Amino acid sequence: MSDNNSNSTIERSSFTNKIGFVLAAAGSAVGLGNLWRFPYCVAKYGGGMFLLIYVILGLTFGFSLMVAEIAIGRKTRLSAIGAFDKLKPGYSFIGVIASLVPIIITPYYCVIGGWVLKFLWSYITMPTNIVASTNEAGLTIFEQLITAPAEPLVWFLIFMCFNILIIAIGVEKGIEKFSKILMPILVALILIVAIYSCTLPNAIKGIQYYLIPRSEEFSINTILSAMSQLFYSLSLAMGIMITYGSYMKKDCNIETSVWQIEIFDTVIAFLAGLAIIPAVFSCGTPDDLKAGPSLMFIILPRLFNTMEAGRIIAIIFFFLVFFAALTSSISLYETCVSIFQDRFKQKRIPSIVFTLLICIVIGSLASLGYGPLSMITFFGMQFLDLFDFISNSILMPIVAFLTCIFIGYIIKPKVLIEEVESSNGNFRLKGLFTIVIKYIAPVLILIILVASILQNMGIIPTI
Ligand code: PHE
Repeated sequence: MSDNNSNSTIERSSFTNKIGFVLAAAGSAVGLGNLWRFPYCVAKYGGGMFLLIYVILGLTFGFSLMVAEIAIGRKTRLSAIGAFDKLKPGYSFIGVIASLVPIIITPYYCVIGGWVLKFLWSYITMPTNIVASTNEAGLTIFEQLITAPAEPLVWFLIFMCFNILIIAIGVEKGIEKFSKILMPILVALILIVAIYSCTLPNAIKGIQYYLIPRSEEFSINTILSAMSQLFYSLSLAMGIMITYGSYMKKDCNIETSVWQIEIFDTVIAFLAGLAIIPAVFSCGTPDDLKAGPSLMFIILPRLFNTMEAGRIIAIIFFFLVFFAALTSSISLYETCVSIFQDRFKQKRIPSIVFTLLICIVIGSLASLGYGPLSMITFFGMQFLDLFDFISNSILMPIVAFLTCIFIGYIIKPKVLIEEVESSNGNFRLKGLFTIVIKYIAPVLILIILVASILQNMGIIPTI
């Protein structure tokens, strides 16, 4: 869905039916965030405590912010930069900061997409026990990949080629239709893998770790990581839901749509966690819990290796993950293209090329950051982790904070409540919406952001 005319109020194309909006928004929301990022965040930042905080934040922050963004888009019929300006001239800077997020995320998202492709290819060409094995130096296939001098770059570029090809020949819509068939198959397959994973020896320890919150796991970092994961997974605080809202029909119920998108997205993330966390306790070591971005790529090969039809399941699984990643990366790429078109009044082709150049520069750093460039770190983070940290833990909370202040105190929540009610008749949770946007979200985001920056700089002790 491109956004060529977003600086004008000419008639925009709309989603043709109500479920069309939910499907499109959910299609963009479901991706590597659910399948790759959520499980490693749960494992790393406190198991059941992370899950509990994630769900609470989803019901409050996630709900309120998504309603707000969709309502802003539908009211103004513009994408982020123009939308803030139209609601109150001079405030387009919030949209500008929001636009930086997809520009940082797209390149490293494609790097992870490249990793997925590598695993798909490995399973096509090698039996499961080889993919799960280590080399003479004790390195897994994944570790060999990310530390190799050029290989991660090659897979990243192949993944980028898929994106460019689909965008250049303009078949995004066709791909989206295809993904509507493949997505339910992916959900079914994750469910099967999750059930299998829960029946492995020792899995019960992992299920307990995943589902039972323990107070000693609570820290400021747990809240910050749960919040940034929520924004990432729901595609919030980056202007995308504003664009989606701008295409939404006036008679579509915003409140119900938001619940549907949230539930769908959270259930898929939950299942991905259920497939991976118990398997860590069964086929991994306690250290694996802290593995971070590599978790899925270390644990799944071991899990597939224990399965009867492991190889064929692995091939289908990585193919479907590749597809989910591709639909999300295309929508991220398109967002960047429309930002350059809107902001710099560029034509489509130069914007596509410019986005490509940025992706290649940032993506190359991210893909080589664990190998040839591993001597370069920032506060102990490699390039990919750094980009992830800047976009998710700094920029997105800032955008969410500014959006709340903007709605709560500049234009007032009433304006958006009226927009929601223009189709609903009644916005049932408007009380919650107002309190979250005006008081709870800005105060909490500010505390978390300041505390986490001070902690990372070593100024205050880790709580
Ligand atoms: N929310 C997507 C995910 O979970 C990432 C994404 C963000 C996709 C923005 C499209 C747009 O993977």
